[in-house]
Amino acid sequence: MAVQTSGDAPDNGGAAAIPPAAVPPPFRPGLEGVPATQSAICSIDGNQGLLTYRGYPLEQLAQNSSFLETAYLLIWGELPTIFQLRDFEHDVQMHRRVSFRIRDMMKCFPASGHPMDALQASAASLGLFYSRRALYDPQYIIDAVVRLIAKIPTMVAAFQLIRKGQDPIQPREDLPYAANFLYMLTEREPDALAARIFDACLILHAEHSLNASTFSARVTASTLTDPYAVVASAVGTLAGPLHGGANEDVLDMLDEIGSVEGVDSWLDRAISQKQKIMGFGHREYRVKDPRAVILQGLAEELFQRFGHDSMYDVARRLEAVAADRLGPKGIYPNVDFYSGLVYRKLGIPRDLFTPIFAIARTAGWLAHWREQLGANRIYRPSQIYTGSVERAWVPLDQRPAAT
Ligand code: SDX
Repeated sequence: MAVQTSGDAPDNGGAAAIPPAAVPPPFRPGLEGVPATQSAICSIDGNQGLLTYRGYPLEQLAQNSSFLETAYLLIWGELPTIFQLRDFEHDVQMHRRVSFRIRDMMKCFPASGHPMDALQASAASLGLFYSRRALYDPQYIIDAVVRLIAKIPTMVAAFQLIRKGQDPIQPREDLPYAANFLYMLTEREPDALAARIFDACLILHAEHSLNASTFSARVTASTLTDPYAVVASAVGTLAGPLHGGANEDVLDMLDEIGSVEGVDSWLDRAISQKQKIMGFGHREYRVKDPRAVILQGLAEELFQRFGHDSMYDVARRLEAVAADRLGPKGIYPNVDFYSGLVYRKLGIPRDLFTPIFAIARTAGWLAHWREQLGANRIYRPSQIYTGSVERAWVPLDQRPAAT
């Protein structure tokens, strides 16, 4: 695959050591507002609700691009030429298969296990097959990008069939990326509209600057470990309910509300109990997440074609009522609020919503992996020590009796 490979060779910490600041900066819980890197991949204007990938507005990419073209843009920094895109698509098609050893390993996983745990284990296992860690070699970087973009969907679909007691089906090389995933998951070729909308969902979830899982990816990358460990680290972080796991919880929440008539009283109770409303709020946005706006439109397209979902009415009522109660605090729907309704209409099981988020975000994680290698310094923040000082060890028989 021909790509521009500017700045591939990892900087092995050659950056001049910066002396520790005389007066440490103030502690910010969750590093809120603290720049932890410089990046050219994604910009967010949280007040205007604007999001760009490498300077291109997300709306234009969701409308006109494909996930693989967007992944190429994120990872290599420029929109591909027609030849570069065809090469990338071909390489990904040729690497979709996963070793039988990994499939057999998955058959040992408990069927009741969460698919995100299965994905984290299988993503990490890829490192066993490609253990040569040659981060200085541009071809190694290209190969790792292709393998991870190509194989993550296959592993998600494989566990879905295996936990149903079936053998996973092999990927098809003649289907585009999104259609092939839906085929591997459902064992039938998807409707063209469904495949297009799913591909747009992957674009919307591909990247979002220094979110928790991407920060994990950069920290792991900064130790110069292999890219499979980087992605496995990020998958584990994404699984949390405050991050990628929220899309699954939103549908549980809508089910609990049950009807449009139940929204107002449910929200009153949730707010009085200081409960976090899943799919709402964001560290960056003080307005509705622009991805939620686009996902809402995709949901409505699906409902027009495949039939309405009454839970959508519940969601819209919740958004309207919450706008009055939480809007003044800058708490609005985020990317996870409508995505689950799209996936449910596509027939995707609820506990696969977050693994699908991981399929898409692999593009962003790999973009940040490459960028970190281009100007690397291992992450090692400081701390403010608040523990005990100067204590002397006490023999067991002189310690106070156990209470
Ligand atoms: C994703 O970072 C990214 O970019 C992530 C992501 C990506 O693309 O990678 O966008 C994907 O993770 C989206 C977020 C999915 N998570 C949820 O929907 C879970 C519910 N949301 C919240 O847990 C929360 O909004 C977070 C985790 C998303 C953000 O948390 P923050 O920025 O640390 O905010 P906070 O918890 O400190 O809350 C600040 C205030 C608090 O009120 P006070 O104590 O100051 O009175 O806002 C309130 C919170 O109670 N608040 C909420 C709320 N989110 C914040 N109140 C009710 N419901 C909510 N959802």
